[in-house]
Amino acid sequence: MTSLNHHEHPYGVGLAYRFNVHREAVQHRNEIDLLELSTEDYIIRERRTYSDPGERLLRDALRTFPCVAHGLSMSVGTVGSLDEVYLSSTKRFLTENGLNIFSEHLAYHSVDGNDLTMFLAIPFEEVAVQWVKQNYYAARKALGRPFALENVTYSFPTPHGSLSEADFLRRVCEETDCTLLLDVTNVFNNSRNHKYDPIEFFDRLPMERVSQMHLAGGHQLPDGRWEDSHSAPVMDEVWPLFEEAVQRSVNVRNVILERDSKLKPFDSVMTDIRKAREIFYSYRPAKAPDVSAPGYEEVDVALPNPEDEAYAGMRSFQRALMARITDPEFRTAFLANAPEAVKKYGVVDPDWFQKLIDCNGRLVHEYEEAWDYFKKEDEQVAKEYEQREWAAWANQLGPGGF
Ligand SMILES: [Fe+2]
Ligand SMILES: [Fe+2]
Repeated sequence: MTSLNHHEHPYGVGLAYRFNVHREAVQHRNEIDLLELSTEDYIIRERRTYSDPGERLLRDALRTFPCVAHGLSMSVGTVGSLDEVYLSSTKRFLTENGLNIFSEHLAYHSVDGNDLTMFLAIPFEEVAVQWVKQNYYAARKALGRPFALENVTYSFPTPHGSLSEADFLRRVCEETDCTLLLDVTNVFNNSRNHKYDPIEFFDRLPMERVSQMHLAGGHQLPDGRWEDSHSAPVMDEVWPLFEEAVQRSVNVRNVILERDSKLKPFDSVMTDIRKAREIFYSYRPAKAPDVSAPGYEEVDVALPNPEDEAYAGMRSFQRALMARITDPEFRTAFLANAPEAVKKYGVVDPDWFQKLIDCNGRLVHEYEEAWDYFKKEDEQVAKEYEQREWAAWANQLGPGGF
C-alpha cells in the first residue's frame, strides 16, 4: 500500500484526532499543524467499522495532515507477557500508513487477562525500571521503532516507593532510548493530588528527552482531587506550567491537545489550540528544524521473562492487587485474612506484602466499583458493537454506501 503520510517527524501544535470533528479539523488546517491518531481506533475492528467504515476519513486525514500515532493497550509496566496481537496489528497500522512516530503509556492496567482500561502507577522502584527496560526493548523490536513513553495520572502510587516519580522517569530514560511524551496536565494533576512541586519535577527530569507533549482539560472533583477529564478546556493553572515545560524542552517536536468529548462548539477547542500555539512558537522555531524520525537498530537487551526470580515480588504484588479489584471472592478473602489470601499469588516478600496492605483502600475500592460496572456493561456494549457493525456493512452494500 502506498503511504499517504510522508512526514518524518511532525512538528508544531496539533489535535488528538476524533472522527466526529473531521470536517472542523480540516477547515482549520492552517492552525492545526498535525493530528495524533489513536491506534486503537483502527486496530480494534469494531471501533473502525463503526466510526469510519472503509477508513475513508482516515485516508483523508492522512492526506491532509502530518500525523503521529498514540497507543493505549501496551501495559508496558505489567510483569507478564506483552500482547503480541496488539503489537503486530499496531506495527501493521503504522507501516501501512507511513507513521513514523508512536507513543504509549508508562503505566500498567492489564494483568492475568483482565484489562482495567484505567491506569495503575508502576511501582517507583529500581526493579520496575529494569522490567520496563526489558519490556520496552521487546516492544520496540516488535514495533520496529523506538517510541515515546507518556507520564500518566494515577489515583494512588504503589506505597513506599524508593524512587520519586520524576526519578523513576529519569531512570527509564537512562536505561532505554525512549523519548518522553510529557503530558503537562498529568504533571499538574499528579503534583496537586500527590503533593509535589511540578517545577522540581521538571528539574529532575531529562527535559532534553521530551519529544512530544500533551495538554488536556480537566477539573477539580468535589473531594478536592484533580482529574483530567479530556472533556473541558485546559485549566488556567496548567498554562504557566506548559510554558515552563516548552521553554525547557529544547527537543520537543510537537504538542497535542487532547479532547475526547464536548468537542463542539469547535471554537472552544480552537481557543486552546491558539493559546498553545502562542506559547509553543514563542520558544520554539516557527519553521520545523530538520529532524528525521529515530532509526531502528537492534539492541542487545535480554528478552523479558515474567518468571525471572528478580521480578517475583513485583509480579505477585500486581497479580494480587488486580485480584483485589477484579475478583470479588479474593476481595472477601483478602479482607478476612490478607496474609493467607495473598499466598494464592505468591506474595511472600514482606516489602511487597506491605505495599499491598498499604494501598489506599478507598481508592482501590473506586477501581473495584469501576471494574464491576464495566463488567456489567461489557455484554451490552458487545451486543451494540455487533449491531453497529452489521448496520455499517449494510450501509456499504446499499446504494448510498461506498
Ligand atoms: Fe495518552
Ligand atoms: Fe495524555
